[in-house]
Amino acid sequence: MTDEKAIKEAQEKFGLLLRNQLNRVERLKKEGDWIDYSKLDKMIIGVCGGDGIGPYISASAQRVMEFLLADKIKAGKAEIRVIDGLTIERRAQVMKAIPDDTLEELKQCHIILKGPTTTPKKGDEWPNIESANVAMRKELDLFANVRPVSVPELGIDWTFFRENTEGSYALGSEGMDVTPDLAMDFCVATKQGTERITRAGFEHAKKTGKNYVSVITKANVIKTTDGRFLSTAEAVSKDYPGVKWDDWFIDILTAKLLDPARRSDFRVFVLPNLYGDIITDEAAQIQGGVGTAGSANLGKRYAMFEAIHGSAPRMVTEGRAQYADPSSMIKAVAMMMDHIGETEKARKLGMALDICCQFEKRLRVTGRSTGATGNEFADYVMDTMQREDLEKAWKKHVDAAVAAAKN
Ligand code: IPM
Ligand code: MG
Repeated sequence: MTDEKAIKEAQEKFGLLLRNQLNRVERLKKEGDWIDYSKLDKMIIGVCGGDGIGPYISASAQRVMEFLLADKIKAGKAEIRVIDGLTIERRAQVMKAIPDDTLEELKQCHIILKGPTTTPKKGDEWPNIESANVAMRKELDLFANVRPVSVPELGIDWTFFRENTEGSYALGSEGMDVTPDLAMDFCVATKQGTERITRAGFEHAKKTGKNYVSVITKANVIKTTDGRFLSTAEAVSKDYPGVKWDDWFIDILTAKLLDPARRSDFRVFVLPNLYGDIITDEAAQIQGGVGTAGSANLGKRYAMFEAIHGSAPRMVTEGRAQYADPSSMIKAVAMMMDHIGETEKARKLGMALDICCQFEKRLRVTGRSTGATGNEFADYVMDTMQREDLEKAWKKHVDAAVAAAKN
């Protein structure tokens, strides 16, 4: 093909991409307000196991969730539905990120608890279909990826508000091999998309009394989309006079998260999709690893809660999936409780997880038969949650950890 012909083809495809994004903007303009769970007759919660270790750790987390919502389920105010069909085998078979019938089932829910799903890349044994995570975030418009990281003894209490539907991810599967020598990807920032994520971050900072937001971009180089992100944040900040804010470039921020003299100052971060993806893994590692972090994907109509790690298919082929650590999925359940207004349950589960994972560790999950199974660990967490001295024990451990860190 001549270069001229290749350019023409690429221009046509680019035109289509632009049209789709502008159509999306029109939908965003009509977006409703946040759903009010207290007004629902019945809350439908879908459990979507995913693949690899996903169905195993989701089942353990589901038990904890059912335990916490037992009253609501009994009273018919909540219903749990198990949704199969998001396995990589099935996705590869229908060549779709989310099979149509599975998507339909997901759309019947209000809340989704999702296990990890395998994400193929070029050259893998699977067809190079779009990530199921990314597709679900886009399909259900889950624009705010909220990822908390806390290490009390180091004074770390961070909440990341990662934009979840735009940036380099929006057209991540729509890049172009223009000629054999030239490949191009695209990055998207809309007025509506950047505004709602920055507003969510500022709102959180205000509501929690943290009152400090750091906006992270690379606006000195990625001038248009990151520039837009930053200028939108600046405009939104005017509505929050009580919230202090500053902006950082992603590279230096990555370094500052490792700087003991500086990192405990940060509270709430708002950032574009790809930077949020990368830096939340770094932050989770500081907390103890990606296996210790939960993640909320929030939209105004739907909300999905998940682990931030992958599906570890090797654990399944090696026959040790039942030993996979469900703690990140259980953490996602705590975030779910918080989101649906069950704040006391969220708080108790959070304390129980700290005791089980960091402090007392009476059961260890090693990923092998040398440790506990995921279900045994879930039982341990549920038992701990019911301890009479839960709050006292948790406080004692935190105080001891803080004192030890000072020495
Ligand atoms: C995450 C994951 C996903 C992402 C992958 C699985 C597509 O890394 O949730 O952070 O990149 O967003
Ligand atoms: Mg990631």
